Amino acid sequence: MKATAEELGRWLAAELPSGFELGVATAAFQIEGAVHDAGRGPSGWDAFTAGPGNILNGDTADIACDHFHRVAEDVALMKDLGIDAYRFSIAWPRIVPDGAGAANPRGLDFYDHLVDALLAAGIKPMATLYHWDTPLPLEQAGGWLNRATAERFGDYASLVGGRLGDRVDKWVTINEPATVTLNGYGLGVHAPGKSLLFDALPTAHHQLLAHGFAVQALRSAGVSGGVGITNVHSPVVPADPDNLEDVAYAGLFDILHNRIFADPVLLGHYPQVPELVADMFAPLLDVPAADLAAISAPLDFYGLNYYAPTRVGAGAGGGENPDGSAPAMAQLPFHLADWPEYPSTGFGWPVAPAHFGTALAQMRDRYGSALPPVYITENGASFEDSLSPDGAVHDSRRVEYLVQHLSAALDAVKPGGRAEGLDLRGYYAWSLLDNFEWAAGYSQRFGLVHVDFDTLARTPKDSFRMFQALARERS
Ligand code: FCB
Repeated sequence: MKATAEELGRWLAAELPSGFELGVATAAFQIEGAVHDAGRGPSGWDAFTAGPGNILNGDTADIACDHFHRVAEDVALMKDLGIDAYRFSIAWPRIVPDGAGAANPRGLDFYDHLVDALLAAGIKPMATLYHWDTPLPLEQAGGWLNRATAERFGDYASLVGGRLGDRVDKWVTINEPATVTLNGYGLGVHAPGKSLLFDALPTAHHQLLAHGFAVQALRSAGVSGGVGITNVHSPVVPADPDNLEDVAYAGLFDILHNRIFADPVLLGHYPQVPELVADMFAPLLDVPAADLAAISAPLDFYGLNYYAPTRVGAGAGGGENPDGSAPAMAQLPFHLADWPEYPSTGFGWPVAPAHFGTALAQMRDRYGSALPPVYITENGASFEDSLSPDGAVHDSRRVEYLVQHLSAALDAVKPGGRAEGLDLRGYYAWSLLDNFEWAAGYSQRFGLVHVDFDTLARTPKDSFRMFQALARERS
């Protein structure tokens, strides 16, 4: 007989080191809805979702999970889940609707209440300052192509730090700058929908600079919590390891996806790039030393998101990106190849927990003692879920995904493990709720809690029961 979700959670609980932090993660734009409430201004993502054909089925995030009006219910769910910490994001356009100037007090009030509700429930708040919702006026002025956006981000960080700095336990400045640069500005499948390919690279530097300014702003505001950044890491392998071209393009993709975002933060410089492509990386290779100093300010922790590995082959191929159709992809000299040997998630991403260990081992090998304590700030999987006649949601593939991945990460950092020595302090499942999954709209469900997008009713899935047993049965 197969183990139940609770049994798996109990089994995994015995593997957790003491003090290991367990949490769940969400992002403002994906769950809040209420896009016109309490003085919120529009974001680049509101504009992008309104554009024809940008989002699957024409979905918008206008209501999403209506979390803005259901905070009490959602915090109660988390209390029942028994987690230590909750990672949420603050919507920049709620705090600075025009992109510059004074804070909107009603926007700050919302997060102030959320933080208090979490603390009252015994849950530590981890606040992300930027999970992709740029205020529209800034996006229209060039968004992350414009260096001034980084300065405005620093101003915003100081407003939020001033108000919440006494209670937030951890601050994440920016979530996955790689996704914003590659999907948003490079391929056009995310907001702002620009297909600039390599000309998108200034947006990498400006986001990292924004991170640096935010670190300074938070610390000047005297925040009591730790400060870090979250990057998404994906080990990259060549389609054919014996084919030199595949190997070269896999190396290039590793630079683009992983290294240009982690190296400057942790090592204080951009990675070396092959001579042949140096021109394309020019915007990153000649940046002021003061920028790099700000970007590499020591952090209290490093947030790592892991979903899947990437396989890269030479030659253009397909315009299909799991996140939407990207015709611009066909102009690149390489393509993302399939993983027929692994089962896949609803998104078509390979379920490959062993590569999670590889990602952690790469972090340890590349950054060594420059790497602060690491938290897995996101990991999870989308599958088609449905309510069963018994009223439950039997999401056994998600249960398996989460158990296999957390256990692979724990194994990797154990004595004798592939990433031994990496100081892994916690794990946040993506996500608490099914939500608005960017270009895929509501088609991809990642939640531990099922959301009926007609009635907004929340139903904990079996994965919730697994995580609850994991949280409760720790010694
Ligand atoms: C990550 C994002 C998060 C969510 C998951 C599935 O890249 O940070 O918002 O969309 O993927």
